[in-house]
Amino acid sequence: MRIDIITIFPELLCSPFEHSILKRAVEKRLVEINFFDLRIFATDKHKRVDDYAFGGGAGMVMMIEPIARCIDSLKADRHYDEIIYMSPDGELLDQKCANTLSVCKNIIILCGHYKGIDERVRERYITKEISIGNYVLTGGELAAAVVCDAVIRLIPGVISDETSALSDSFQDGLIAPPVYTRPANFNGLQVPDVLLSGNAKEIEKWKMEQSIARTKQRRPDLL
Ligand code: ADE
Repeated sequence: MRIDIITIFPELLCSPFEHSILKRAVEKRLVEINFFDLRIFATDKHKRVDDYAFGGGAGMVMMIEPIARCIDSLKADRHYDEIIYMSPDGELLDQKCANTLSVCKNIIILCGHYKGIDERVRERYITKEISIGNYVLTGGELAAAVVCDAVIRLIPGVISDETSALSDSFQDGLIAPPVYTRPANFNGLQVPDVLLSGNAKEIEKWKMEQSIARTKQRRPDLL
């Protein structure tokens, strides 16, 4: 999978891909991440990417020309399954959305700033808008990193034990059951006996019961 991220702050986005699972996914070439600095596509000598809003109003608007140049040059080389704009107005990111994106071949993610992008970018280029929550961030970069993380870990081979992504919370519409590791007894706090029993069938049954009970208690909206 190839993810091309268009941003005015590429440095802000590097770190999440330089550690742990995402780093290994890049090294194993299971995903290719490219950053495109929007300023390089600015059409004037000051490298401006924003301007005042027609009709007035506070805040600057990201201009269509640099964005159009950047996206057109990318589209000239390959087909994109989705051209995503990170925006609080978009559809809320959930596991279903991450699953759908994880089977894409090429996607573009455009990170917004200021008061947003010229509406004509949306009309001409954007195929999907994603929000990571009902709050406003200073820009789309951190939101883009969240989307990438949620998507990349679903690509087969990224997580060593493939079933571990499939048994995540939300993957089956349920919250994951509680997990424990050594010691079996910490100052009197005991791990449930069933998990130490070695009885695989009983353990699976217990996990499912726990998942259902937790979902009912914490996220009844998922049921
Ligand atoms: N840009 C600003 N706020 C955002 C949000 N909540 N989700 C996605 N992109 C954003």
